[in-house]
Amino acid sequence: MEQNGLTAPPSILVVDDDPVVCEVMRAALQNDGFEVIEASDGVEGCRLYEKHHPDLLLVDIMMPHMDGYELCRKLRSHPESACVPILVVTSLDDLPSIARAYDAGATDFMSKPANWAILNYRVRYILRAEELRRNEGRLIAAKEVAEAANRAKSDFLANMSHELRTPLNAIIGFSSMLSDRILWPLSDRQIEYADIIGTSGRHLLAIVNDILDLAKVDADKLLLAEEKVDVGEIVSLGSQMVEDMARRAQIDFASEIEERPPQVIGDPAKLTQILINLLTNAIKFTQPGGRVRLKVARYAHRGMTFRVEDTGIGMSVDQIPVALEPFGQIDTGLDRKRSGVGLGLPLTKRLVELHGGTIEIESEPGKGTIVTVRLPEERLLQKPTDLRTGDQAAVVAASARFPNDASAAGS
Ligand SMILES: Nc1ncnc2c1ncn2[C@@H]1O[C@H](COP(=O)(O)OP(=O)(O)OP(=O)(O)O)[C@@H](O)[C@H]1O
Ligand SMILES: [Mg+2]
Repeated sequence: MEQNGLTAPPSILVVDDDPVVCEVMRAALQNDGFEVIEASDGVEGCRLYEKHHPDLLLVDIMMPHMDGYELCRKLRSHPESACVPILVVTSLDDLPSIARAYDAGATDFMSKPANWAILNYRVRYILRAEELRRNEGRLIAAKEVAEAANRAKSDFLANMSHELRTPLNAIIGFSSMLSDRILWPLSDRQIEYADIIGTSGRHLLAIVNDILDLAKVDADKLLLAEEKVDVGEIVSLGSQMVEDMARRAQIDFASEIEERPPQVIGDPAKLTQILINLLTNAIKFTQPGGRVRLKVARYAHRGMTFRVEDTGIGMSVDQIPVALEPFGQIDTGLDRKRSGVGLGLPLTKRLVELHGGTIEIESEPGKGTIVTVRLPEERLLQKPTDLRTGDQAAVVAASARFPNDASAAGS
């Protein structure tokens, strides 16, 4: 129907040995804007189909040389005409003949003498259904192409990241030997440069590792190394790792966790990474003097949550989906002073989902952000028989506190 970007009228091939029927059909269909081609038997019908590729065929059954059943079978046996709509219009309206027409591949059936108004509606309906079918086919094909391209991208990223990591390890390793004066005595200036090389190398390695992990998740190749994980341990490890960052940023940071923290089945490295990503974000995007809290809570029959709250710059509702996209960063000017490439949150989301969990972000510009990661009940080892039902959490005794500002810590 599409020709050079313009929509041509649908073309219909009428195959009937009765010249009067052909003539009447032509008049009725042309009157309705269709282009009409005529054939007087199945053999000519086949030939004209190959020549014109019409959008639909109206086919009589009883014809010399090749009847309508044979024509249907022939068209259905070729891939290019396997799906073309064929409306059989015949005076053979007994049940066995109708069944035979459908068996031969007819799309629909109408008896003669045809009611021309109904014929027009039937033709339009079949053409519309065919158009929908073709569109669906196109969409499926486009989706498959996009998925293949995405897989190729993920494979490329995974390979490239792997290749980049090897030289980076050499850069980091040798620069640290230089910094530590293991091989040669160096001047202070040389050591300063070696430190910069090491820091930059580690920074680049962290980015490459994030890209590699994201590519692996997208290619379904990131597997969790699952074991029994003590939530208390990962909370204290993650907290220690950001403690220094919080102190330097003058943020009051503390983690709050129940006295007997739960144990879960999960990947301890990935769970720690989730906490560190959320905590570094909270600290990065909070002004000096602000507050960051990591809260761990268990819920009766609803798993457990890690909740990272900050009093920072926050995000609007529209900005949250952007933040969750790979390389998505909110450019408020304020936060662009911060380092990072925008991979932490999308990776965190995927790592949480790999654990069967969910991530929820509540945020308000100028007020702060709360990110809640929920791990499902199945991940918990001890069942919370001692917990109250509902949403009431059995929390919260501060087990770690890293204040740098006594007044803020008390607030
Ligand atoms: N707690 C938060 N408060 C305000 N904005 C945030 C917060 N967390 C994330 N964002 C916004 O979402 C963006 C994406 O976060 P994400 O962690 O993915 O990237 P990043 O921290 O900029 O870089 P990376 O994590 O790769 O080092 C951030 O750049 C920031 O604009
Ligand atoms: Mg981040």
